[in-house]
Amino acid sequence: TSTTLDIVKVAGHIGAEIRGIDLAAELDGETVAAVRAALLEHKVVFFRGQDLDAAGQERFARRFGTPTTAHPTIPALDGSPAVLDLDYGRTTGRANHWHTDVTFVQRPPLGSILRAVTIPPYGGDTVWANTARAYAELPAELRELADRLWVVHTNQYDYAAYKPSDESEDAARHRAVFTSVAYETEHPVVRVHPETGERSLVLGGFARRFVDWSAEDSRELLRLFQAHITELENTVRWRWAPGDVAFWDNRATQHYAIADYGTLPRRVQRITLAGDAPVAVDG
Ligand code: SIN
Repeated sequence: TSTTLDIVKVAGHIGAEIRGIDLAAELDGETVAAVRAALLEHKVVFFRGQDLDAAGQERFARRFGTPTTAHPTIPALDGSPAVLDLDYGRTTGRANHWHTDVTFVQRPPLGSILRAVTIPPYGGDTVWANTARAYAELPAELRELADRLWVVHTNQYDYAAYKPSDESEDAARHRAVFTSVAYETEHPVVRVHPETGERSLVLGGFARRFVDWSAEDSRELLRLFQAHITELENTVRWRWAPGDVAFWDNRATQHYAIADYGTLPRRVQRITLAGDAPVAVDG
């Protein structure tokens, strides 16, 4: 069906809710193009109260790209190889660290589509940050430095960088998932977005050190870039209800799942779309 989209910004610099669309319906090309344009402009778009199951989520995802296998190291949902079942504290450790999805591979995902299945009565919000605006707002000298740097991304568990939530079991689960197969790759710190041409910072929790720099020399500069990315004015926070769907541009965002709901269940399912290798400013 053809739909007139009602797009409402959620925060000043990132995030919009798209109303008046049923993601379970057959979407026409015009609607898909409008959602895609909103995604590129707002970096993360939200759809409230959808009636999707895993198969419906996959049908929707296929209108925007090619789903990858659920995750390089985390098992998929039974019977749905493209669906990552994030049943926190049960199938996976918490995602309460700033990251861009799967940046430790050569071609990180284009985007992710996350569907809320079980949401605690309080807490468990997710926050996204705009990595294109963070780049644009840097002092000129820092932008010029960032343009020239490359960075090593790895999935190897880093005790110093990752702060697991209070339960040690959670940390053990996280460690098991993220150290099972080692991935390491190099990306430019600044990538040129293949669709918008915008420059954005490719950093986050899997970025370990700058290429040809020691971890120690890298630490403070990584922290400085990361502080610009996660500045509150550069973020949007989403209070989930079951059925909600978030679709983010993984080439222009980082996100953080807030682990403030103790042992209450929280289950979300993610489909990740295949992306391309980040291209540096000099090609
Ligand atoms: C993720 O990090 O991709 C999942 C975010 C969430 O659980 O809200």
